[in-house]
Amino acid sequence: MADIMEVDITSLGAQGDGVGEYDGTPVFVPFSMPGDRVRAKVLETRRNGLYCDLVEILTPSRVRQEPACVHFGACGGCQLQFFGDDTYENWVRERALMALRQHGFDDVLVLEPAISPKSSRRRVALKALKTAAGVVLGFNERQSHRIINADMCPVTRVELTTLFTPLRDLLGPILSQRMAATVHMTLTASGIDMLIEAPKALDLADRERLSDFANEHDIAALHWQEQGFLDPVAIRREPVMNFAGARVLLPPASFVQATDEGELALTAAVVDACKGLGRVADLFCGIGTFTFPLAREHQVLAAEGAKRPLDALSAAANIADGFKQIIPRHRDLFRRPLTADELKIFDAVVFDPPRAGASAQVAEIAKSGVSRVVAVSCNPNTFSRDARTLVDGGYMLESVLPVDQFLWSPHLELVGVFTRRL
Ligand SMILES: C[S@@+](CC[C@H](N)C(=O)[O-])C[C@H]1O[C@@H](n2cnc3c(N)ncnc32)[C@H](O)[C@@H]1O
Repeated sequence: MADIMEVDITSLGAQGDGVGEYDGTPVFVPFSMPGDRVRAKVLETRRNGLYCDLVEILTPSRVRQEPACVHFGACGGCQLQFFGDDTYENWVRERALMALRQHGFDDVLVLEPAISPKSSRRRVALKALKTAAGVVLGFNERQSHRIINADMCPVTRVELTTLFTPLRDLLGPILSQRMAATVHMTLTASGIDMLIEAPKALDLADRERLSDFANEHDIAALHWQEQGFLDPVAIRREPVMNFAGARVLLPPASFVQATDEGELALTAAVVDACKGLGRVADLFCGIGTFTFPLAREHQVLAAEGAKRPLDALSAAANIADGFKQIIPRHRDLFRRPLTADELKIFDAVVFDPPRAGASAQVAEIAKSGVSRVVAVSCNPNTFSRDARTLVDGGYMLESVLPVDQFLWSPHLELVGVFTRRL
């Protein structure tokens, strides 16, 4: 088989690669789309086809667009920037359908995707490295640990991107040669929560630089983390997230949904699915993104394995007004899922696990008899696997809402609503 080939791209794969065929074998080519004719170089032969590098676009698709970012192609994020809006939206829906089909769901109602716009990402983790030429800071290159020295990012909130250059200047005198760091930033309701991880104990001059930086750029809280030790260098205001009117103090670098728009779409879907029902269990609740909006109408059990976010949720629940009872439960739901017996008293269960899904917990939910289940997932494949367990256990998958908070990337969140068959 030829090493370099010409291929017509006819469809898209789950990771956003263009897919064509050569001698009857599927060929996967990144940065290509249906309608392109490309020259591609084979890198690897796998069970399901040939994985290639794009050498050249011979004839571009009619709907191909100019990428919005100068770092396109090199940067590991946003690989689908050359899709027009309609092509992208169709692909988001197709991405959900592909995962569902793999688990035998051929006929599910997939709703219109909620796609976050440009410049909406409110949390980022930037990589930094001190080199002889200064600090390189940005995102990892595609499939590599090399760092793109980013001076823009069209998907990230401008309040965060304007800090890229000042951060380089800040870290220059603090890091030693070849020292790496990670800068986590979250834009909260009270300003930016920043946590810098690096293998370096701060001296007095470093502290002054960091504190001046926080003042100059109005950073709400700046923590330095060295080998797990969290050093609160400049706490000017408590970083706060606001959920349905409840003010939750955000523990440093905690999980929040990636965009305001994504959070709103997920929350609306979850609240809507539980409307009119009684008690709700919110499993993998984090700091309470869904707990508080749900607790406007329902008594909510909020279960979470990490102590810090759950403590933040509990503290907010203790002082918030206008909510039904919130019962926080600290529990490792992988090792000790809530049992079918414990779940029986609920009318609805919401679960939003990490990427690995929640197979042990879902097996218990499937046996519980709870009338409504809402699955929120950041991995369409584990979503579909968990959905299969629920459907085999007697639930009907009513609808799936795709929520895309990572514009132009294959990452996708799904909300599935399940009803118990009688
Ligand atoms: C995708 S986040 C969702 C958080 C929350 N629902 C939200 O929207 O902000 C997943 C949550 O699962 C929690 N988690 C991870 N492993 C867990 C486990 N074994 N048991 C319970 N919670 C776990 C994480 O700490 C995190 O808060």
